[in-house]
Amino acid sequence: MIPPHGSSDLQPRFVADPSRCAALAVEAERLPAIVVNSAASSNAVMLGSGYFNPLAGFMNLTESLSVAERMSLPNHIAWPIPIVNIVRSAVLSPDLRRATRIALRDPNLPGNPVLAIQHVEAIEHLASDQQAFLVERIFRTADPKHPGVADFTSAGDTLISGPIDVLNHSYFPAEFPDTFRTAVQLRELFAERGWKSVVAFQTRNPMHRAHEELCKMAMSATGADGLLIHMVLGRLKPGDIPAAVRDASIRKMVELYFPPDSVAVAGYGFDMMYAGPREAVLHAIIRQNAGCAFLIVGRDHAGVGSYYGPFDAQAIFDELPPGALAIRIFKADHTAWSRKVGKVVMMRDYPDHKPEDYINLSGTKVREMLAAGQPLPLEFARPEVAAILMKHYQDEARAAMA
Ligand code: ADX
Repeated sequence: MIPPHGSSDLQPRFVADPSRCAALAVEAERLPAIVVNSAASSNAVMLGSGYFNPLAGFMNLTESLSVAERMSLPNHIAWPIPIVNIVRSAVLSPDLRRATRIALRDPNLPGNPVLAIQHVEAIEHLASDQQAFLVERIFRTADPKHPGVADFTSAGDTLISGPIDVLNHSYFPAEFPDTFRTAVQLRELFAERGWKSVVAFQTRNPMHRAHEELCKMAMSATGADGLLIHMVLGRLKPGDIPAAVRDASIRKMVELYFPPDSVAVAGYGFDMMYAGPREAVLHAIIRQNAGCAFLIVGRDHAGVGSYYGPFDAQAIFDELPPGALAIRIFKADHTAWSRKVGKVVMMRDYPDHKPEDYINLSGTKVREMLAAGQPLPLEFARPEVAAILMKHYQDEARAAMA
């Protein structure tokens, strides 16, 4: 199986030994504590899961600036997005400023239980020009309407850096018991199934026919033994479909339309950043750590609005030095149903087609049709998948009226 990113074995930050974990939980109760923001808590879960190997914790200012500027850490390991614990300076009591170990409390669970212990190496001020530099490099825009920019700039101006020991995986295992999986668990699953070469599909949306066929094309082109459909389970922007509904619709598609035992459906605890190209590189590292040999990157991967060109998230991989990542990218062109050929195709394979030869529906149109109880065209969506989504939108519409 493919090695993890940046080290020969996977070094997840979750404390797997139950007695050590219990001892740390006791220690944590008497440490100075902060309730971290949602992005930092999901990053702690990612560090705990092994998905952010070889990082041991949150980056300091020098590391963050290096990553933003060069897409690599000062030790030359490729990394596209600073993984930071940003707080507002106002939350830093004198006790916290002096502490070498602090408890990180979970913002997403009632009572804010301890999620991790951080060994504090530095507390640094992020100056406004440094914040602007990070934002511009990560998101390629400073527009406060970009949901990732809005989140990042509102988080605060102080970086707390240093390694963490992760005590639990937050709300993910309880809320998504069949779907939340760590990189360690996925490597075990692939080994059990005898899959040597796995192709990963990143998603934050339900899957329609174009996505289904895209995955099948990638499997056949790469000769992979298995497909990992790997969905984001963390926070999304308003209007995105809740993870539980996506999960149900994806599982229905896999059950009915993929060969048995060819697909693993799983999810990871990360808040989407909508950082387009830079996030695509992070997505690749996440999948390499999970043991996947390929990641599918299609049209407007991890994008939002029109901030990124449709294939910027593919081009960015050409900026990395050769060998920076072991995972390979399956670069997919826009995929849609062709009326001329009568199946889903990749547009680059049909240069004679005109736009009107394809069946394309915008996300807004799909939402409107489903909320109004109108069936989606069979060429666009599997009816069993559409039925699950229609129920979601109609429940939502009823709740809004009540
Ligand atoms: S993402 O934000 O997680 O990337 P989404 O779930 O919509 O969003 O897309 C998942 C993957 O499928 C991404 O790699 C994206 O580029 C690709 N993709 C989605 N729709 C298409 C399409 N019609 N043609 C080609 N690639 C697509």
